[in-house]
Amino acid sequence: MLSQQDNELLCRVGPGTAMGDVFRRFWNPVLPAMELQSPGCRPVRLRILGEELVAFRDKSGQLCIIEEWCLHRRVSLALGRVEEHGIRCLYHGWKFGCDGTVHETPNTKDIRIRERLRARTYPVREAGGLIWAYMGPIDKQPPFPHWRFMDIAISNLNVVKLDSGSNYMQVLEGGADSSHVGVLHSNFARPGWLDGEFKANPDDDNPTALVSDELAPDLEIEDTEFGFHYAAVRPMPSNDENPMHNVRIVPIVMPSTRIIPARAMQTVLFEVPIDDENTRTLSIGFRIDGESFDMSRYEDIRGRKNPALVDQVAGRYLGTWENHFGQDPEAMESSWSGIQGVVMEDLAMSMSPGPIVDRSDEHLVAADAAIVRARRQLLASARRVLAGRDPIGLMDDLSQVMACDETVPVKTRWQDLAPGHKLRQTDD
Ligand code: FES
Ligand SMILES: [Fe+2]
Repeated sequence: MLSQQDNELLCRVGPGTAMGDVFRRFWNPVLPAMELQSPGCRPVRLRILGEELVAFRDKSGQLCIIEEWCLHRRVSLALGRVEEHGIRCLYHGWKFGCDGTVHETPNTKDIRIRERLRARTYPVREAGGLIWAYMGPIDKQPPFPHWRFMDIAISNLNVVKLDSGSNYMQVLEGGADSSHVGVLHSNFARPGWLDGEFKANPDDDNPTALVSDELAPDLEIEDTEFGFHYAAVRPMPSNDENPMHNVRIVPIVMPSTRIIPARAMQTVLFEVPIDDENTRTLSIGFRIDGESFDMSRYEDIRGRKNPALVDQVAGRYLGTWENHFGQDPEAMESSWSGIQGVVMEDLAMSMSPGPIVDRSDEHLVAADAAIVRARRQLLASARRVLAGRDPIGLMDDLSQVMACDETVPVKTRWQDLAPGHKLRQTDD
C-alpha cells in the first residue's frame, strides 16, 4: 500500500517534478536507432518525460534532439527541412543548429533575435541499437553507460519499441513481480496446467519457461550499486545427496529497467515515461553467448505480431477496454488468459486499472517484496534529488549486470551466479 501523496511522487514525471528530475539525471534510451538510420531522413516526433521533442539525424550524420515547437510561431519542427548542420523550419525558414543556436532568420533583418534566442536541445548518443538522450542539468551529466548488449553485434540484437497507455510504474511493477509468471503466463510457464500436471517447457529462449511448478517461490532481495536484484528460488526434484533448486535472478536497474532471464537469453526492458500516463518500452533481446537466434519465434512468444493488438509501424500497443485487450473468452477453455502472447498478457494487466493505479487500496503479500523495494528506492531517489543529492543507481559500467536462470545445488550461494553485482550499503 502506498499513500496517495507517495503515489503522486512516484508517478509524476513531467518537468519540475521530483521523479521527473530523477529520470533526468540518467541517460535514457528514447527510440530504436533504426528509426533514424540515414542522414537527412524524416525527423521523428518524440514525447519523453512529458516534453515534446523532435529527433533527427542531420545531413552531416549528427544526431540531434530539439524542442518540437519552432521559437518563431511554434509550428512543429518535425515537418522541417533537415540540412547539413541542423534543421530549418518549413514556415519562415528559421534554421536551428543541434546545439539550439539560431543560425538564420530569413524573414527578419534584426539579427539580435538570433543572439537572444536558443532552442532547447539535449545531448544524444547512439549505442546498442538505441538512441539515448540526457535531459538533465548539463553540470550533472553522468558518463555514458556501458551495457553488456552494447558489446554484441547489432544484427544479433532484437530491438523493439512498444508504447502503451499506463504510467511507467505499472509496467515496471509487472517485471518486478516473479509470482505472476507461473499464473498469468500459465500456457508458456506450465504447459499441462489444464490437466493439472506439470510439464517443464524445454524452450530455453523463453523467459516464462519455468522449470518447476512452484507458484510461491522464496524471494531474496539485496540492494546493489545499480538498484537491487532479487532471486526467486524454487525447489527442484532431486536426490537427497545432491539437492538442487532453480534460481532466477532479476536485476532492477534504476530508474526503471529490468533484465529478464531465460536459460539461454537475456531481455533488457527499459520503461521510459512518455508522460505520466504513457510508457515507451524499449526491449533488447539477445543470447547470452552473443549468437544469432530465431527472432520471429521470439516475437511469436510475445504476441507482438498480432495486427489487432500492435501497430507495427508506430510501435504502439492497441489493446484497450474497447477490444477487451484482445481477450477471447472462448479460447479460455484451453488458454489461461485468452490472450495470445506474453507481452500482450502483461500489457493487459498493466493497463486494465487505468493509467495511474490507486495504490492506497492494495493488499500486498510477501511475493510483492520486489515491487515494494522498487517503489522504496525510487521514492528515496526522489527525496534525495529534492535535497540536492544524487539519485540511487547512477553508474556508468553496467556491463556485468546480468539476469540468470539456473538450476544449481542448494549449497551454491545464489550471489555467486551474478558475481558482477556489487552490494550497496543502504543510506537512504
Ligand atoms: S514558425 Fe518557424 S520560422 Fe516561423
Ligand atoms: Fe509477465
